[in-house]
Amino acid sequence: MTYWLETYGCQMNKAESGALEILLQQNNIYPASKAIEADMVILNTCSVRKTAENRIWGRIGYYKQEKTKRMFLLILVGCMVQRLKDQLQQRIPEIDIVLGTFQKQELISAIRAIRSKEKNICLTSGNDYQFSKSYNINDFKSFVPIMHGCNNFCSYCIVPYVRGKEVSRPAEEILSEIACLDTSGIKEVTLLGQNVNSYCHIRNGTSMYFPDILSQIADAIRNIQWIRFLTSHPKDFSPELIEHIKMHTQICKHIHLPVQHGSNKILSRMERKYTREKYLTIIEYIKNAISDISITTDILIGFPGEEEKDFQMTCDLLKTIEFNDAFTYYYNPREGTKAFTFEDTVPHSLKIERLNRIIELQQGISHHKRRKRLGKKVTVLVENISKQQSHEVLARTEHNDMVVFPGGRELIGTFVNVELVSLRGSTFKASIS
Ligand code: SAM
Ligand code: SF4
Ligand code: F3S
Repeated sequence: MTYWLETYGCQMNKAESGALEILLQQNNIYPASKAIEADMVILNTCSVRKTAENRIWGRIGYYKQEKTKRMFLLILVGCMVQRLKDQLQQRIPEIDIVLGTFQKQELISAIRAIRSKEKNICLTSGNDYQFSKSYNINDFKSFVPIMHGCNNFCSYCIVPYVRGKEVSRPAEEILSEIACLDTSGIKEVTLLGQNVNSYCHIRNGTSMYFPDILSQIADAIRNIQWIRFLTSHPKDFSPELIEHIKMHTQICKHIHLPVQHGSNKILSRMERKYTREKYLTIIEYIKNAISDISITTDILIGFPGEEEKDFQMTCDLLKTIEFNDAFTYYYNPREGTKAFTFEDTVPHSLKIERLNRIIELQQGISHHKRRKRLGKKVTVLVENISKQQSHEVLARTEHNDMVVFPGGRELIGTFVNVELVSLRGSTFKASIS
């Protein structure tokens, strides 16, 4: 049997798709080379924005149509399933199996059950979250989920409702998975969690926090050379954590720290649990402690109550901090969240206009920061052959910048020292140094 898997959403979903692929292949179900040839199509879904859900509805519509031409199983898993539960199959009965966030591990038993003629399976409640390995034998980098869920309930965000309460993975389980990756040729690991730096595991009355597990990992690895972590919440970004990042050369000098907004009025309505001033203090501490650091962020524009002066405070924050990059979004009301009950005061056209203004501002800052790096010698990890030029390879710096330079397939998964020579859009062109 064969499968076709499409993944939407965040890195956690990507890691969980990796785990699903391991599970499928252990049960002799292998990847198909085309969706139209697969015995089952699996969509690992996301609910964070309406745009993500609309795209998935589009894919469901497409596969529903395909089902009129040939037989295959249509399976939906993940956050959108957790949000909509049996409504999905009520709307589209052609969906054979739906599995929520906590039931992804039930995939094989659900496939067996449906093949023995049970009708439409829907599992969305009951289990505890199960942490699973997502490492594939051919990989040179791997995600390692270390915590799951979110207790923060930012007023705009659906994640706590579809991912549940925060749970931290036992430290010994994380360390044993890292030890296994370290002897398997993995070069880079990314520790994952919805709020990765809120990690806290208690054993025999002793609490282990994120800086503790991070430095234990850094001390334990021999072959893995880079450690990354995603996504951090400002409320738990402590001076101790910054010192640990500084101290360990294996921890990449890149911090993704979503700020969302620059106005205290909006931050408070978003229930982000910090102020602009607190965020600026953390950034100042980071920059003072680690001179060669890359800081990126998420910005959420057009939240209810945002006036031009609030928006300007966000622009001002971007100019003050000079982030290396930012992921920018406009606010989508999500049913079930607290902000869904707020009046959506910013018209759609104004959200788009402000979003474009913020993108333009950040692009200028990012470009300026990248230009300042030209001439630098850096180490990169080669990831693939360049899509544009087949004689070039695509690599990533520890700052998470994309780099291309002449090279072949044999370099994939290796570290190379290069000099940053010029820029092609936001990608550096480099030469081997
Ligand atoms: N846990 C991370 C944090 O605290 O920032 C972010 C997780 S969320 C999956 C990724 C990003 O999606 C958020 O940083 C936010 O900017 C954006 N986002 C969340 N809810 C949204 C909504 N209702 N509309 C638009 N963007 C949203
Ligand atoms: Fe969503 Fe806030 Fe939790 Fe991040 S911290 S996942 S934005 S509720
Ligand atoms: Fe989307 Fe779920 Fe991640 S809603 S962003 S896939 S946690």
